[in-house]
Amino acid sequence: PRKIILDCDPGHDDAVAILLAHGSPAIELLAVTTVVGNQTLEKVTQNALAVGTIAGITGVPFAAGCARPLVRTIENAPDIHGESGMDGPVQPESAIELDPRHAVDLIIDTVMAHDPGTITLVPTGGLTNIAMAARKEPRIVERVKEVVLMGGGYHVGNWSAVAEFNIIIDPEAAHIVFNEKWPVVMVGLDLTHQALATDEVVKKIEEIGTGPAKFVRELMDFFQATYKDAQGFDFPPVHDPCAVAYVIDPSIVTTRKVPVNIELAGTLTLGMTVADFRAPAPADCHTSVAVDLDHERFWDLVTDALVRIGEV
Ligand code: BDR
Ligand code: CA
Repeated sequence: PRKIILDCDPGHDDAVAILLAHGSPAIELLAVTTVVGNQTLEKVTQNALAVGTIAGITGVPFAAGCARPLVRTIENAPDIHGESGMDGPVQPESAIELDPRHAVDLIIDTVMAHDPGTITLVPTGGLTNIAMAARKEPRIVERVKEVVLMGGGYHVGNWSAVAEFNIIIDPEAAHIVFNEKWPVVMVGLDLTHQALATDEVVKKIEEIGTGPAKFVRELMDFFQATYKDAQGFDFPPVHDPCAVAYVIDPSIVTTRKVPVNIELAGTLTLGMTVADFRAPAPADCHTSVAVDLDHERFWDLVTDALVRIGEV
């Protein structure tokens, strides 16, 4: 299995990412770390522990990271994820104790303790923790196999006309992560807007009939309503598990190698992930973007993970 560290801000779709990572036999989940984003650090950390409890995750450290972006003021997304950051289902009391380490240290320690080229970082929130880790211990950059992140979009934004939430909430952190020499796969809105939780998908999940499946169903109900109100979607795009799915089976996602950099100075374009498609990517290009999703196989991975998790 592929070893990953999931750095997240649950978040309805982050919750599905955690469940997918835990339930997939192709993934070894080494740590779950949290970062301010969809809600305050305190709330998203509580949510991560709740999801871990619902999924029956044991023996995996959960650690809280940065409570604010590197430079900007905090921006949360209550219109999409509610006041708790994961509104909808009733949350259980956490059965998991938070690891006392700071997420940045847990990320560094974990990467340094494993063989080079064996750990994939999967950020599904703002990139504050990952940028801090790269600055604090630069040797992680050559040890990490790749960074497969949910964020950005080469043709579309959601928090502004051209910028996506995870990038715009901490563009300086994104700039650091995209400019380090590790391989970066940007699983952006171009791809994740194809990962819609349609009625058919939600019905299949519901039919699994377990507690964790019911939890996902309730998450999707809330997510569908806010995505309709706030962004005009009929069905919600379930962004974050797309990054995990790519790690599980890259053939589900087509990618294209292209230089990508982060806009830090634009008055209308702050946080834009600028992809330069003018010429074939140079040989040393270390960034690629996700293009097309196999919708059916993606949702099969999610339902399969839920079936394997079973009743907790
Ligand atoms: C991203 O922003 C968050 O609200 C979601 O969890 C996802 O990671 C989509 O733009
Ligand atoms: Ca997220």
